[in-house]
Amino acid sequence: MKKVTETLHAMSVKLKSGHEAVPLEEEELAQQEVLFRSYSEGMVRLDPGGWFLHTPSLKLADNIYEHKYRPSDVIIMTYPKCGTTWTQEIVWTMWNNPDLDHPGAKEQIFLRSPFIEADSYLLSRHHPPLGDAAIQAYRKAFPHREDMKDIFFSLTEVAPDPRVIKTHLPLSLFPENLLETCKVVYMARNPLDVCVSFFHHCRLFFCQDYTGTFDQFVDLFVKDNLIPGPYLLHLKEAWAKKDHKNLHFMFYEDLKEDPLTELKNLDAFLGTELSEDKIRKIVDYTSFSAMKTRAIEGLLPVREEVAKETGGFFRKGESGDWKVVTTPEQERKILAWMESGLKGEDLKFKYMSRK
Ligand code: PPS
Repeated sequence: MKKVTETLHAMSVKLKSGHEAVPLEEEELAQQEVLFRSYSEGMVRLDPGGWFLHTPSLKLADNIYEHKYRPSDVIIMTYPKCGTTWTQEIVWTMWNNPDLDHPGAKEQIFLRSPFIEADSYLLSRHHPPLGDAAIQAYRKAFPHREDMKDIFFSLTEVAPDPRVIKTHLPLSLFPENLLETCKVVYMARNPLDVCVSFFHHCRLFFCQDYTGTFDQFVDLFVKDNLIPGPYLLHLKEAWAKKDHKNLHFMFYEDLKEDPLTELKNLDAFLGTELSEDKIRKIVDYTSFSAMKTRAIEGLLPVREEVAKETGGFFRKGESGDWKVVTTPEQERKILAWMESGLKGEDLKFKYMSRK
């Protein structure tokens, strides 16, 4: 065993962020490749932190670390399935479309609010071609480029101010001066609901193409073996900065219960100075049903049969939905993982009880 570990460390790569990327051992990699059809090009775990990435995305991780963030940027930072798209739409609308009459608002949110590491999900040979909208946006932005590499990172680089950038990467994979440079809106969600939503997401999208059961998924979740890695550390890094003037920490459950108050708080944080009437209209415009009705499919390929079965990307949009599918044993595993991972933290979630 010692020999294998030594060999792996010999192959490890040092990232610009200072993390060391260590390839998964053969057996673990083989298990990942069976469970996720799209994880076909190797996986690494970063030290420190245990961030879990697709090997071909390491160059992108360096580009993201070295990217020049702008003072006008707003970064929407979340672990997957915490309400990223909802927050992107709210922030983009508050900045760019407060009167709800912007013709560009009909475009996919992915193209209005770029997902900086999206390319890292598309590197698998198993992945079908991207939807036309992404290709057209890339061709329009870069008419002289012949290749189709780093599409979403390139679109992020040329996006106009103020950029509303999506990421699922944690604070520690960004430059240390990020919060001295621009604003970050961090959205958290009850881990039990995140696990359920993430399971459906991984079945739905070809970027993962998950083949396992929910029970196996719960194990991957509590062992931090899902891209981008440990949810609890992701949360803790941002929670430690919650009083920083450039980081706004929000909870999905609060936004769901009282969107008006949450949007007023966001308005103060962003400095958008919108009237209460405009904020109320944005609350309606970004409700689950309104966003589901406007949704444009087709940018990232999905399994249609799963979309039909579950409702697709805009699946349920509820708090506490975990109770429907999670067994007491699965619940116990997640609660135990939370108890040990959040020890000493005053970070609490709503909708944690089965009653
Ligand atoms: S992703 O793919 O990781 O960026 O997904 P993300 O956008 O973070 O999370 C998707 C979940 O958020 C729900 N959603 C919403 N809930 C309430 N209101 C609005 N407007 C809204 N928009 C998206 C979406 O339905 C996913 O949650 P589940 O529980 O799966 O329904």
